[in-house]
Formats: sequence, structure tokens, C-alpha cells
Amino acid sequence: MCGIVGYIGHREAYPIIIKGLKRLEYRGYDSAGLILYDGIDLKLSKTKGKVSDLEEISKEISTNGTIGMGHTRWATHGVPNDVNSHPHMSNSGNLAIIHNGIIENYEPLKKELIKRGYVFHSDTDTEVLVNLIEEVQKKEKLKLGKAVQVALNQVVGAYAICVFDKQNPDEIIVARLGSPLAIGVGENEFFIASDASPFIEYTSNAIYLEDEEMAIVSLDKPLKIRKIKDDTLVDPYIQELQMNLEQIEKGGYDHFMLKEIYEQPNVIKDTYRGRLHANQGLIQMAGIEDNLEKFLNADRIIIVACGTSWHAGLVAEYIIEEFARISVEVEYASEFRYRNPIINKNDVVIAISQSGETADTLAAIKLAKEKGAFVFGVCNVVGSSISRETHAGAYTHAGPEIGVASTKAFTTQITVLTMIALRLAKAKGTLSNSDFHRYLQELELIPEKVAEALTTNDKAKEIATKFKDAPNCLYLGRGYNFPVALEGALKLKEISYIHAEGYPAAEMKHGPIALIDEHMPVVVIAPKQGHYDKVVSNIQEIKSRSGKIIAVVTKGDTQVRELADYVIEIPDTSDALSPLLTTIPLQLLSYHIAVLRGCNVDQPRNLAKSVTVE
Ligand code: F6R
Repeated sequence: MCGIVGYIGHREAYPIIIKGLKRLEYRGYDSAGLILYDGIDLKLSKTKGKVSDLEEISKEISTNGTIGMGHTRWATHGVPNDVNSHPHMSNSGNLAIIHNGIIENYEPLKKELIKRGYVFHSDTDTEVLVNLIEEVQKKEKLKLGKAVQVALNQVVGAYAICVFDKQNPDEIIVARLGSPLAIGVGENEFFIASDASPFIEYTSNAIYLEDEEMAIVSLDKPLKIRKIKDDTLVDPYIQELQMNLEQIEKGGYDHFMLKEIYEQPNVIKDTYRGRLHANQGLIQMAGIEDNLEKFLNADRIIIVACGTSWHAGLVAEYIIEEFARISVEVEYASEFRYRNPIINKNDVVIAISQSGETADTLAAIKLAKEKGAFVFGVCNVVGSSISRETHAGAYTHAGPEIGVASTKAFTTQITVLTMIALRLAKAKGTLSNSDFHRYLQELELIPEKVAEALTTNDKAKEIATKFKDAPNCLYLGRGYNFPVALEGALKLKEISYIHAEGYPAAEMKHGPIALIDEHMPVVVIAPKQGHYDKVVSNIQEIKSRSGKIIAVVTKGDTQVRELADYVIEIPDTSDALSPLLTTIPLQLLSYHIAVLRGCNVDQPRNLAKSVTVE
């Protein structure tokens, strides 16, 4: 939530900041701002709205300045308006700050500062922090870096910050706790950003600050990283980035979401490349091999995640229990972290997260570690907080996911989790040899079947035109496809703002059936394998109450076709792997409905890609 960008070097800072903010807009997009130093003074520009609005109003202040900072906001404290937008200035007008995170104890700090004569213009916690830094700087006569450190030791909360002092304009102070911060190291220039995307075309060398670390980024002095708590020096670890520019551009698609939906055949292949060896009958995943005993001795596996990642966790529950016969519990990270869960040393916790930055998932991991559990991460973003906080893990290799609605992250998470289930099943002997080999071969074929499922795009678009004005929609599925129903409903509501609910199909008669009439579209996931006959009965129950049925069926299906108003066909696969295919038309359906309703598909209202606040 919130994206931050900074630059100090020899290039004009303005275009770097604007372009960087556009790339980080997925992190929050209710207001934006920037500040530039032109060698004499600071030029500030900020506004409610998107980075394009900021660009409109800031063109005239664009200077040749080679130092600048920018921010794109997802409001936490204070409504989105011009005043609450970042950067925020200290009372003297010397210090400027951009901040991603929340200062939880800002109220007492603010009261104290007001007593000392400080005046506040915004409702934000960030304006409190910049004035606290100024107060420390003045009172204790400290240089900016030291003042930031002292101030940060007084705050409770989360932050990634950049602070600039116009009286000492050769440096930007950066610090992080709980929110990501990367420093791009170029030739006589530095880039600062929430992720590496703003500087990918300038340098492939990056340092990711760890929690409770800060740095003085300056052209005159070597980069030094220090611990905020005790000032000890930390060796900077420069990482070579894997990301490239093409991956973070739309590549001819109208929206990132559509591009990412269409990337699924390739990224699923990337996910299993080098891990799945169907011909040799092998699954090899370093993180699992190194910790196999922990998994095999586990009394149970607890999966923690949020949103779409939680849905992937539910699919994994079915697959791991079926294949490896290990008991699995799936928990919302936000509930798990606050309910004093029973966790034993023999529990294995799997944390799933696309961004690797979700605050609740991160807190759940810390709790599980404190209680002695072994924690395994399934993350997409390499080097993210969750990937570093977990004992071991497996990356999904989906590449950058920029559309706020998660698509390729979901299917690649399921791919990783399926491989884990298969590897454990092999070690435990809980699947017959022939079933194990069959699943490996079927998994290997999934990318081409996903490509075939993508040919339902026109059908999904046609159905979208019929239902784009529906106020509600129900999604039903059973077994492996119950979580897909939840995911389909989430996709629809988050990007089209149509109220949608996912349900296990058989639960319908315990309540939701009361909603069914001739106006209610019901999306039923009914592939041939699995509980087909039961789902057909559920379809009949809807039909006899005049509900409108959109069914996702296996190619060649005739029975459901007779009952449903619309059918979308997907290729055949085994029940356990079917979520990788059934989910595709549901993603396309939501996408087209949202486009037809004129919604901002990539940046739905009130949402942000990376939820770094609880
Ligand atoms: C929905 C969506 C969110 C995320 C959730 C967890 O499309 O994207 O529900 O799945 O915020 O995010 P990660 O996976 O980054 O932890």
C-alpha cells in the first residue's frame, strides 16, 4: 500500500519519478505527489487522483533537478485529498518525507508536538513523523541521519520512508520496518523504490533493506546501512535483478489483468521447469528436499494466507490431504495471528503470498516461528519480506503481477502446491506409482490445456454482455472446485463491483437457494471428473427455480448443456488438477464484465496490490 520512489544522481529526476510512480501505482492510487530539488529550492506538487493527474499539474514545476522523491498513496490516515497526499513537509519547510506504512502511536506524538508549537495541516501520521524528526534534529542538534534514527526509535508501526533536508541536499535518508524498500545502485546514481520496477532500465543491481535498517543515500559517501535500534553497521548485499522491462509493460494488451491471464500457459511452465520431470517420474524442489523430514514428520500442515492466496491454500488442502494424507488446516492470516492458535513443534506452516509483503501473513509467520513451527513460504516476489522471513520456500516464478486482481499468481501457487503434494505423496507412498506418474504427466500437459481454455475468451465476452448489469451473482462448485467458486466470486466483485458469493454447491439448499429467481445468474463449475452427478442435481435445483445458469463444463459434455443457459467448455483433466483450468473462464468472465461496466480493471476502487497494513 503506497508506492515510494526517490532518485539522486546526474539525470533529470522528474521523468524518473513520474515513470516510477506509474509503475508503482498498483500499490495505491488515490493520490500522488512529488518533490524536486532544483539546486536552490524545493518544488512540491501533489494532488488527489492518479499519477496522470499529478503529471498534468506538475509539468510546470518540472526542473532540471537531479534529486527528487515521489509517492502514490493508498489512504490509511485521512481521506484521499490534496493536503493528505505525500510528500509532507516539516514546519520549517526544510524537511520533506514520503512514507509507506502506518505510524500507530502518531496521536500521542502529535499531541506532544502540538504542545511544543508544531502546527499540522493534514490528518496523516506521516506529517507527525516528519515533524518529530525535525524536533529531534533541532533539540539534539543532530545531523539528519541521526535524527531520523532517534525519531524512528520512538515510533511504533510500519514504514518505508525517504527523508530529504534542503539544508543538506546531497543525501536522502531511507529506512524500513515492515514495508519494502529497494535501493538501485547505478553508476554514480541511486534509485529508491518500493520495488525494483521503477529502476529496472537503469540498473540491475539492487539492495533490499531489511526490517529495522536505514541508510544514508549520498553521492559523496559510500552507502552505509545501519541498524535503526543500535546503529551497528550492516554489510550491503547487492543483488542482481532477474526482472526485465518487458515483464512490467502491457505488451499490446488493453490491461495488465488480461496480459497476465494470457501469460498463464507460459508461467505455469516456468513454475514447474526444472522441478517436474515427468519422464523420469521425479519432482525436485530444493526447499522441499532440504526439509523433507520436517514435512514427513508433520502432525499437520497449517496454511496461512489472505484473499486469492487463501483460495489457493484451500485447493492445496484438498490436494495435500488426498495425495499425501497429511491433515491440513487453512487459516486467514488475519484471524490466525490474533486468536492464540495452538501450534506445535511438529506443525509445518505454509505461508502463501504473491507479493510476499502482506502484513497479516507476515505477522502470522512470525507468530508461528515464535511457537516453534517450521515455516515454508510460497511467494512470487523474489527477495520479498515473506520469502526472507520463512525458514525455506518455493518461488512461483509467475513474473511481476501488476493487475490488482490476482490471476497468474493463483494458478502458479496451485502448481507449486500440487508439486509439493506429489513429492510428499511419493515419499510417503500414499499414491500408487501409476497414479503418481499419471499426475506428473497430466501436470506437464496443463500449460497447453490452459492455452486451450483461453480460447473461451469470446464465449466469456458474449456471456458478459448478457450479465453485465446483474446486481448479484452466485458461484457454485464442489470438492476441488469449491475454492474456485470462491475465487470466481472474488474476481467478479473486486473488479466489477457486482456483489458475488461463492458457495459449495451442496450448501445452496441451506440458505442461498432463497436468492434464486429468474434474475439471478449462477455460475456452476461442473467438470466431468469429481462430483459431477451431484453438481448436475444442484443445477436442476437452480433450474427449477428459474435461475440463469452459466456452467463451466468439460469439452463434449451433453448433460449440463441441456440444462444450462450458457456453457463454457474446458479441456478434460483429473479432478485434482481441474482448478487450474476451471478458473480460466471465470477470470475472463470477470474481466469482460468489468470492462463492459467501464470499471478500472487494473486499479479497482479502494484496493491496492500489496496490503502492507493490517
Ligand atoms: C485478489 C487479490 C488479493 C490478494 C491478497 C493477498 O485478487 O489479489 O485478495 O490475493 O491481498 O495478497 P498476497 O498474495 O500478495 O499476500
